[in-house]
Amino acid sequence: MKHLVRRMDDAEQRPGDPFAAGARPCALSVTRIALTNFRSYARSELNVSAAPVVLAGANGTGKTNLLEAVSLLSPGRGLRGAKLANVQRKSPAEASPDGAVPLWAVSATVSRLNSTWEIGTGLLPVSGAAQPRRVLHLNGAAADSADVAELLPMLWLTPAMDRLFLEGASERRRFLDRLVFALDPAHARRVARYERATQERLRLLKNGVRDRAWLDGLEETMAEAGVAVTAARLHVVEALNVELTARGAHGAFPCAHLALTETGTDAAQLQTALAASRQRDADAGRTSIGPHHADLEVRHTIKRADARDCSTGEQKALLISIVLANAWLQKKRHDDVAPLLLLDEIAAHLDVNRRAALFDEFLALGAQAWLTGTDTSLFAPLKARAHFFSIDAGRFTAAGAA
Ligand SMILES: Nc1ncnc2c1ncn2[C@@H]1O[C@H](COP(=O)(O)OP(=O)(O)OP(=O)(O)O)[C@@H](O)[C@H]1O
Ligand SMILES: [Mg+2]
Repeated sequence: MKHLVRRMDDAEQRPGDPFAAGARPCALSVTRIALTNFRSYARSELNVSAAPVVLAGANGTGKTNLLEAVSLLSPGRGLRGAKLANVQRKSPAEASPDGAVPLWAVSATVSRLNSTWEIGTGLLPVSGAAQPRRVLHLNGAAADSADVAELLPMLWLTPAMDRLFLEGASERRRFLDRLVFALDPAHARRVARYERATQERLRLLKNGVRDRAWLDGLEETMAEAGVAVTAARLHVVEALNVELTARGAHGAFPCAHLALTETGTDAAQLQTALAASRQRDADAGRTSIGPHHADLEVRHTIKRADARDCSTGEQKALLISIVLANAWLQKKRHDDVAPLLLLDEIAAHLDVNRRAALFDEFLALGAQAWLTGTDTSLFAPLKARAHFFSIDAGRFTAAGAA
């Protein structure tokens, strides 16, 4: 996987630091990102310093694709939740000198508290296997997902999340779990353990297998991992509520109050309930109880209204409040390092005051925000405080703010 960690020679641009004197570099930043056969990009590279980045371009120029590539430097399926095979560039893909088309790869240089790291990810063919495998490399060696998540924490907001409060519970649950991962990387392992045991139990029940010892064992794992998942979610919900309250009621972003619907933390009780629901679950073809039914309820504290009854702009502002509260929590808990913020089309629905307040806040956090938009004028207050690039046909051109 040499190509995942090697610096590319054909850098298309290496901008200097166009920043106001005294601007503080971000403690955590991606300073180089290179993409190979990744969605609309055949081969591109972007170099920046430890400062926020604004990417502007017409619809379909690859702004979200670039943010998605950054998001895939962290374990998981990235900000679109896409299948990993789908990000492979459809033709014309860039071929290597031997004529073969390499699978997609993203590599990056990460700067954290004066150390630099090379992260690489992509798909790798496995001899004898039908499907290629995802790899995650740190400084050229296979990396543990939790280590990479800890090194490069990130949070994102995308236009698809504008409907978070209006749609089913599963998206809100995933959103909450991402907030938990960001503070507690071990959460990913807990969730995966719970999901694996749940799927296995359901498979047995659907196939009419009634091996009591086998089911007992799976339910024990489900109960143990399940209550750990709930406890971690509750812990983060509580911490976020404290942070959100401390942010005060009168800032640009509304004070929100979070609550979790599924709060059982007694493993023995969950295990007994699972054993008692075997027949019902077999008949229904689904697991009727457990933390995979949890929902995140959000209230706008000042309006005393449920988030789903707020306006589109208010909902967006609530989401931003939650994400910023999480970023501040991370900064406090992790050596004063704020996570990367990937903010896709964030300016849509935000009035001019809220936009300015958002910029001020991530600058105060010292977070490297990656922002996209079709029009640079929306980001004018960031002039001399962020890199501005326009994107066209997979190339990045340093541009001034309008
Ligand atoms: N696997 C792929 N192979 C090649 N092109 C792809 C692939 N997946 C997506 N694309 C294309 O990438 C282009 C850029 O998509 P992207 O979502 O990044 O645009 P955008 O700049 O964010 O646009 P908008 O302003 O509309 O949000 C689209 O034209 C899309 O069809
Ligand atoms: Mg987009």
